[in-house]
Amino acid sequence: MKSSEKIIDKVLTNFVNDKKDQHFNPIVVKVKDQVCPICDDRGIVLRGDVAIPCSCMEQKRIENNFKYARLSRDLINCRFENFNLEYYSLSSANADEHYNNAQKALKASQEFTDNVIDNPHEVGLLFTGPVGSGKSFLAASIANVLIEKQCRILFLIVPDLLDELRATYSNKKETTEFDLLDIARTVPILILDDLGAHNYTEWSRNRIYSILNYRMNEQLPTIITTNLDFDDIEQYLGERTCSRLLQMCRIFRLTTQQDIRMQKYIEREKIK
Ligand SMILES: Nc1ncnc2c1ncn2[C@@H]1O[C@H](COP(=O)(O)OP(=O)(O)OP(=O)(O)O)[C@@H](O)[C@H]1O
Ligand SMILES: [Mg+2]
Ligand SMILES: [Zn+2]
Repeated sequence: MKSSEKIIDKVLTNFVNDKKDQHFNPIVVKVKDQVCPICDDRGIVLRGDVAIPCSCMEQKRIENNFKYARLSRDLINCRFENFNLEYYSLSSANADEHYNNAQKALKASQEFTDNVIDNPHEVGLLFTGPVGSGKSFLAASIANVLIEKQCRILFLIVPDLLDELRATYSNKKETTEFDLLDIARTVPILILDDLGAHNYTEWSRNRIYSILNYRMNEQLPTIITTNLDFDDIEQYLGERTCSRLLQMCRIFRLTTQQDIRMQKYIEREKIK
């Protein structure tokens, strides 16, 4: 591990520990704290005279990566293979367009996931579209595959990020604010979920700009989901941030005839 990676690792570990009791902290919930039956939680087993890592260590590493990434329970289950294109083909005049848009966004997400493993400077993705069109689902599916492949990822919900930054800032715990900002700037893959129509102040706009500007300069991939159209992004976040997004991301629009949450609700209640 390079020394810069060690620092990120340490900061993330402290960060996760700091957040253990807070509501947004995830994630992998065990029914019981089970002791590994193979190694008794020692992490190694003996093969003759040689100590080798127990198979549970790999599982623990993956669990830790999920904790670092801060994915919520709902999102941890999102997988490309469960991305159902039927939600985009409800009969309507625009059904083909909805379906084609979703197919393109899915393909781009899978390509990104494949490519970023060999190219850490792969161009990122921005998903725009109305409420319940599958934007966060795709972003989380990317995260889940990459976490399992041991990539360092952070999934941040923008309004929560801004709340946290504001809280640490107003508590004058500048080091903590710096830590979180710094992690968002430098983590190898960042997902910013719901960069939406919030009440941005000059202060929060600057924080977002600072994260994106750093990542653009260092060519670190960022995945963004937003309800906003590109013109609206400019209005909310300013021209300079908007221009950077064009350089950093390929843009995909997801559209549906009906909110997928509503489609699922109807399915669920029909069965009962
Ligand atoms: N293609 C899909 N196949 C199966 N389930 C989906 C699909 N797209 C979305 N869902 C499910 O529908 C719900 C809404 O999806 P999601 O959270 O991705 O919407 P969104 O576009 O991010 O909406 P919002 O703008 O409100 O954040 C979630 O429960 C998600 O798991
Ligand atoms: Mg969403
Ligand atoms: Zn074990």
